[in-house]
Amino acid sequence: MEKITKKYTNGEITVVWKPHLCVHATTCFTELPKVFIPYERPWIKMSGATTQEIMDTVARCPTQAISYYWNDSVTPEGTQEPSKTEVSFIKNGPIIIKGSFKVIDIDKNEIITEKTASFCRCGHTKNRPFCDGTHLKTDFKIDEANEG
Ligand code: FES
Repeated sequence: MEKITKKYTNGEITVVWKPHLCVHATTCFTELPKVFIPYERPWIKMSGATTQEIMDTVARCPTQAISYYWNDSVTPEGTQEPSKTEVSFIKNGPIIIKGSFKVIDIDKNEIITEKTASFCRCGHTKNRPFCDGTHLKTDFKIDEANEG
């Protein structure tokens, strides 16, 4: 059976929602409640915030349930989006990698070619090596002095 994927756009970017990947970590609607409204339909209101605010919140989704892409791969400045890879750390949560990359498992199988992936740092995920939101249900804390 084909898995449902829904898309929402504000003209600049398109947010892609893959409900089968959602672990209800609540990151999206906790951080940007004017855009991500779980009890309304459609539940994503792209007019509720700026493109940058939406991108920042989507990037912090601990799974790949929501992602985005630039419409026509053009940035607001009118240039092609640079092909760079960005690594960021979520406080007391996963490492987010965005850009052009692939993940190879121990048997040399390519397991994802997505443009965004979140990797577990807490060790409690049931979907290794990816974050599945379990860190939110544990007392996982990282010493901020040693935060990457
Ligand atoms: S960091 Fe999210 S489950 Fe481990």
